Amino acid sequence: MRAHEAGALHGDIGNRGPAWLRTPADVNALVPQLWPRTATRAADGALAVGRLGVREIAAEFGTPVYVLDEDDLRSRCRDFRAAFADADVYYAGKAFLCRAVVRMIAEEGLYLDVCTGGELATALSAGMPPERIGFHGNNKSVAELTRALDAGVGRIVLDSFTEIDRLTALARERGVRPGVLIRVTVGVEAHTHEFIATAHEDQKFGFSLAGGAAAAAAFKVLDEDVLDLRGLHSHIGSQIFDANGFEVSARRVLALQAQIRDARGVELPELDLGGGFGIAYTTQDDPSAPQELAKRLRKIVDGECAAERLAVPHLSIEPGRAIVGPAVLTLYEVGTVKDVDGIRTYVSVDGGMSDNIRTALYDASYSATLASRASTAQPLLARVVGKHCESGDIVVKDEFLPADVQPGDLVAVPGTGAYCRSMASNYNHVPRPPVVAVRDGRARLIVRRETEEDLLALDVG
Ligand SMILES: Cc1ncc(COP(=O)(O)O)c(C=O)c1O
Repeated sequence: MRAHEAGALHGDIGNRGPAWLRTPADVNALVPQLWPRTATRAADGALAVGRLGVREIAAEFGTPVYVLDEDDLRSRCRDFRAAFADADVYYAGKAFLCRAVVRMIAEEGLYLDVCTGGELATALSAGMPPERIGFHGNNKSVAELTRALDAGVGRIVLDSFTEIDRLTALARERGVRPGVLIRVTVGVEAHTHEFIATAHEDQKFGFSLAGGAAAAAAFKVLDEDVLDLRGLHSHIGSQIFDANGFEVSARRVLALQAQIRDARGVELPELDLGGGFGIAYTTQDDPSAPQELAKRLRKIVDGECAAERLAVPHLSIEPGRAIVGPAVLTLYEVGTVKDVDGIRTYVSVDGGMSDNIRTALYDASYSATLASRASTAQPLLARVVGKHCESGDIVVKDEFLPADVQPGDLVAVPGTGAYCRSMASNYNHVPRPPVVAVRDGRARLIVRRETEEDLLALDVG
């Protein structure tokens, strides 16, 4: 172990990287599952996506920039639609939402899940049919619920007794009968990071199954003639690869469905199993294709319904990350390359935790490649960091880049479509990057870059 004055813990953090990270045979190679579907190395060695070279994209839009491969996103929508042909696929807008994406998913036949007034406003302003919108959230305000009712959203997912009372009063005032689901906390410990696991008992979302709140909520809603209880909802977390969690969740939620039937003689017609399907951020991740997911979920639901002697409800799912995550890469320019005392090489880029908070927030792992050129240099284990005033401002913890990586190079980080732009901040007064959709050799700005003027315009003191 290397001696270090900070002690054994720090000293142990060598420059080897995690055990699973292999030195690549070809440091320029693109591992297909990590990259948008149209990404290639062009003849000049630079990365291209949507048949556009990244140097051209950077020259036109600057860096950092989120580059969205429109064909990739649309093809993932179609994959989910085809795999879940007899179910409704709600795109979880929290992963990334803007008008252009609303139109893309609507054109591809998806539904849309929103969870705030802002997301609802974006959806409506892009022309999403309100009946294809589901409204989520653990603390929807009276104003948000009112707006949802007035817009005629297709369904509202109830999350608390307070909300049941709130919505009942609003629906009665308006003489409407909204479709609702009950969000059930099924007590599953999804094997993912604590902050993106959402169905273990001790957390803010939903009605607890084990404590009886979920059954009580269902009975209360059934007693309210102005609410149309369509079904139960369970979302167990995000970035999940293991079907066991879905199996336990489906079993428990369908047992509640049977309990409701036995007590009230009502079989709820719908069931939402949430989202959370994992994607590949590194070569370690091995996500299932939508066809495979559909087959497994269908088998689980059919089996549980048969066991409970229930008619199979109409299913819906809510993937966010699995649709938009792999469709986007972030392009950065390298500013400095620093070899720290033989411990590690830090490659600093012109963005960081303000455009991708996931590494700092969830300890997420990412991959990267030198994008503006190919290199014949040896692979060098590097850490890609941002420009912010936090030592935790890490974009990619460990990645092999060519040893000749230098200021002015472009580095691309794949898998940044979900929860990066949507969680972006202005930390250190850094304006948020634009989103550019590329397709068939053409680039289209869909979210413009923030400017210092935008930031100063908010500062009215
Ligand atoms: C209720 C609900 N549905 C769907 C999603 C989407 O999850 P993912 O993007 O991992 O598919 C989330 C994510 O937090 C969620 O809370």
